[in-house]
Amino acid sequence: TIGKVEFDRPLAIPPLAASTVEDGTRRFDLTLQTGTTDLGRGTPTPTWGVNGDLLGPTVRAQRGERVELRVENRLPETSTLHWHGMHLPAEMDGGPHQLVEPGETWTPSWTIDQPAATLWYHPHLHGSTAEHVYRGVAGMFLIDDPEEAALDLPRDYGVDDLPLIVQDKSFDDDGELDLSTSLFESAGIIGDTVLVNGTPGPYADVTTEAVRLRLLNGANARPFTFTFDDGRTFDLIATDGGLLPAPVRLTSLQLSPGERAEVVVRFSPGERVVLRSENSDTRTTFAGGRDRLDIMQFRAADQLDPAPAVPAKLAEVPRLDPSDAATERSFSLAGSTINGRPMDMSRIDEVVTVGDTEIWTVTNADGGSHNFHVHDVQFQVLDIDGREPPPWLGGWKDTVWLRHGERVRLIMRFTDYTSTEWPYMFHCHTLRHEDSGMMGQFVVVEPGE
Ligand code: C2O
Ligand code: CU
Repeated sequence: TIGKVEFDRPLAIPPLAASTVEDGTRRFDLTLQTGTTDLGRGTPTPTWGVNGDLLGPTVRAQRGERVELRVENRLPETSTLHWHGMHLPAEMDGGPHQLVEPGETWTPSWTIDQPAATLWYHPHLHGSTAEHVYRGVAGMFLIDDPEEAALDLPRDYGVDDLPLIVQDKSFDDDGELDLSTSLFESAGIIGDTVLVNGTPGPYADVTTEAVRLRLLNGANARPFTFTFDDGRTFDLIATDGGLLPAPVRLTSLQLSPGERAEVVVRFSPGERVVLRSENSDTRTTFAGGRDRLDIMQFRAADQLDPAPAVPAKLAEVPRLDPSDAATERSFSLAGSTINGRPMDMSRIDEVVTVGDTEIWTVTNADGGSHNFHVHDVQFQVLDIDGREPPPWLGGWKDTVWLRHGERVRLIMRFTDYTSTEWPYMFHCHTLRHEDSGMMGQFVVVEPGE
């Protein structure tokens, strides 16, 4: 079922977002806009993007820096921009309560205080997140810190450190993105064409022995199981919220929508290798969608710059201790609800006390394809159906995949920011599910509030 992909287009690399520093604040301008993109359909495809026609620039900042994002909406519709994975005040979160009307500008600002990581941004308005992301509004948000910088890892952006925003799309007969409602039903859109950074059938030239791939599943609904066509191993070095304690050697890696991973792959001179997605777990395949897709090709030069092996020790990831948990909560995902309740923007579902460690038990209770995302925090997976998580889930996560019937226990600590007025979201990151109500709201408050 592998579609023939030619790999005849150079991979687009999202430019680094320009910024200026003034009074200790790093400022970025992000303009949501409409455009058209050549996606190989014979005629340009109408798309949406940020500072361009499709997708957006990579925002990059240092831990400890204060950032200010000027988000201007030049789309014909109300939208929002959410900083997925970011620890920040709820008012700056860019969720469904921070609407940016057409023609208006919204300017959130916060101090980045979390480890080096590959985060991302995307719209998050209630009811239309799936459509706005599908049309092309998304980009990466990279955080750097001194600990990561001290490691001998590939970090030459666009050369041996490649952002890869992987998304599946479908097109109608006119070459336009297919937004027909049937595709938006149940699971959401399962496309038959994979774009990487908005490039169909891309190849990347490799000039170094080791390349770091920052993989983002930016799809609406499809989980990707990344693997190489020759079955080669790679080292997983980071998950959603940052570096792992130590690299994990893998031959395949599954990411559900919203999840990220950083991997280091080694190449030999002159070879060509294809990155593909091959879901062999029948619990993750889709009736209407192919479960094997070729994604992109790597073309190694005849001479490669040498690169050292990945360091054996990467980062301190202090384990959160379940005996410190002040509160336990349960979340059951089924139908278009969490715990039987569809999203209601005027209802606060959970009240969390700042400083507390909590355990959240999440269950996939309807056999659909679900993944669970929590705003503001990075969590750790305590167990899956009572069993120890695999090593690739041993680091910081903000989104976790739940196979049919699975139950995961997550541990997280809520710090720094409180508000009784502005909620954060928790939801299924299968975007159509989120839009149809599989989302809830929590506030973080001072003790006694
Ligand atoms: Cu990626 Cu609540 O979002
Ligand atoms: Cu879901």
